[in-house]
Amino acid sequence: MPVDLNAAMASIAEDIDRAFDRVLAIPDDPRRSLYEAMRHAAIGGGKRMRPLLVRASADLFKVDATCSLRVGLAIECMHVYSLIHDDMPCMDDDDMRRGRPTVHRAYDEATAVLAGDSLHALAFEVLADPETHPDPFVRSELVSELAKAGGPAGMAGGQMMDLVAETETFDLPTVTKLQQLKTGALIAFSLEAGAILGHVPPEGRKALRNYARDIGLAFQIADDLLDVEGEAEVTGKAVGKDAGAGKATFVSLLGVERAKAQAKMLVDQAIGHLASFGPDADLLREIARYIVERDR
Ligand code: IPE
Ligand code: IPE
Ligand code: MG
Ligand code: MG
Ligand code: MG
Repeated sequence: MPVDLNAAMASIAEDIDRAFDRVLAIPDDPRRSLYEAMRHAAIGGGKRMRPLLVRASADLFKVDATCSLRVGLAIECMHVYSLIHDDMPCMDDDDMRRGRPTVHRAYDEATAVLAGDSLHALAFEVLADPETHPDPFVRSELVSELAKAGGPAGMAGGQMMDLVAETETFDLPTVTKLQQLKTGALIAFSLEAGAILGHVPPEGRKALRNYARDIGLAFQIADDLLDVEGEAEVTGKAVGKDAGAGKATFVSLLGVERAKAQAKMLVDQAIGHLASFGPDADLLREIARYIVERDR
């Protein structure tokens, strides 16, 4: 049966919304607005690409769906935290995210910092919970790998390079490294997590890692292209920000046409890495194509 990417995206979006709703019940005390701000950012929006990647990867190894959903929830916590902080005045200073006001706009900056901090902590709480996987070695590897993917050797380090990219001239290898950290690390963890959940030893993860590296880069090139060619009504966030900030991106270095060609090449290469999985990896193939064809 051919895979239905739209149905898979709708299904994971529903599952993630329900999971956030459960873990973010609003307490009847002065922490109320913190929980409200977390719900504002986390529920009802976003493409949920990372949880979908976890599910698609974990399904290759016949992992229980409740385990892969919980790991997807943890990664989405980390991702949403990164978006809340990315939008703050000290970073990109954005007013819209996922078609609604950013957290510091809807609430205030202090609440946005704390909502981000809390989602960051929640990511690890979810991973460390025995409900995520019965094997403590699996949970420990998930915690350790997400920590690396989110920290200075991953997303946070990439965000630092991204800020420096506004004032310093970066060459293509440096921009590639920036994107691999800023966006690639969390995407790579999403695929790695499926293999960790499936008790696949590191030697057996090579194909997935290569696929992850290529789609991670393609994903950020697509994001940079949307900043140039996208429409704010569709992307749900402001466009034209990177050029406005004088930021080095694939698009600023290569131009629109070569950046598009590079993204397409990466997707073909990513799909090539999946050959050994046969039709079981069809959802991962569809996701790779979607990543560069998307308009949001
Ligand atoms: C946007 O990520 C920020 C990047 C790392 C490029 P997404 O494009 O996945 O944003 P949502 O989750 O769909 O809103
Ligand atoms: C942010 O990259 C990536 C994160 C780690 C949050 P961008 O600044 O390009 O993301 P958008 O365009 O605001 O979603
Ligand atoms: Mg940014
Ligand atoms: Mg931004
Ligand atoms: Mg962007």
